[in-house]
Amino acid sequence: MIPRFDAREFNGVTPEMSEAFTRDGVLVLDGLVSAEKCDQLRDHMAGTMETFDAAEHASVFSSTQQSHAQDEYFLTSGSQTRFFFEEEAFDEKGKLRNALDQSINKVGHAMHDLDPVFDAFSRQTAFDKLTHGLGLQKPLLAQSMYIFKQPRIGGEVLCHQDATYIRSEPNSCLGLWIALEDATEENGCLWGIPGGHKGDMPKSLFIREGNSTHTQVLDDTPYEEEKRLPLPAPKGTVLAFGGLFPHMSCANRSGKSRHAYTLHVIDGATRYPEDNWLQRPADMPFRGFH
Ligand code: FE2
Repeated sequence: MIPRFDAREFNGVTPEMSEAFTRDGVLVLDGLVSAEKCDQLRDHMAGTMETFDAAEHASVFSSTQQSHAQDEYFLTSGSQTRFFFEEEAFDEKGKLRNALDQSINKVGHAMHDLDPVFDAFSRQTAFDKLTHGLGLQKPLLAQSMYIFKQPRIGGEVLCHQDATYIRSEPNSCLGLWIALEDATEENGCLWGIPGGHKGDMPKSLFIREGNSTHTQVLDDTPYEEEKRLPLPAPKGTVLAFGGLFPHMSCANRSGKSRHAYTLHVIDGATRYPEDNWLQRPADMPFRGFH
């Protein structure tokens, strides 16, 4: 059993929360974000999507296009608001086969610094208190993602550790996963392996080399997936987990969407290697909560 905490009146990490986070690798905070704030962010994303011009992206996403255009689109997204799609969302000419809201997988990775609504949501006081309370001395917001997990087409995400993708030395990655809609086992909630976060390093490292990436495996033993537990998250629940916590989600085969927003925070007191995939230009460094 992974404990849940009523966080509607959250005013800092309690010793019980801290203990659960250290033991399980994940902290479940129900009601940390109000339903109203969740709705505002969803509405805002719906408005943002209306500005998306698929034709403008045709050259990137045409299925005949060399994959380096897509690599480039991804690798430069650390300082942008970019749209990422479910597989085969585009035809050979780069035209969307279905409506945008039936094609999109996620938006990332710098809305928290580029968009005032995402900025305010991401820098709400509760998240500042939470990240400090979980041990980050100088929290810096590295990455934001808006994840759609569309009804019927939202694909599964295999078991992984976020520290594979957001590395600092020593590891300090902390993920906040915010349910903007009820996430249930039916519509593809997160699952995690409690206690699976022990050790210093993730099992693999996602490494950038110029304009390409590769994965370096450090430990090829499989995750103990038989120990995984579901992490259902009603709207407004925040799951906080460190970069070593193994987690995954199943495909959404239900008729209900499962929108979520994630933030990845690192400690500015650590080193952020230059071979992390996510890089910022010199004039746009990672910022904290203030
Ligand atoms: Fe993840």
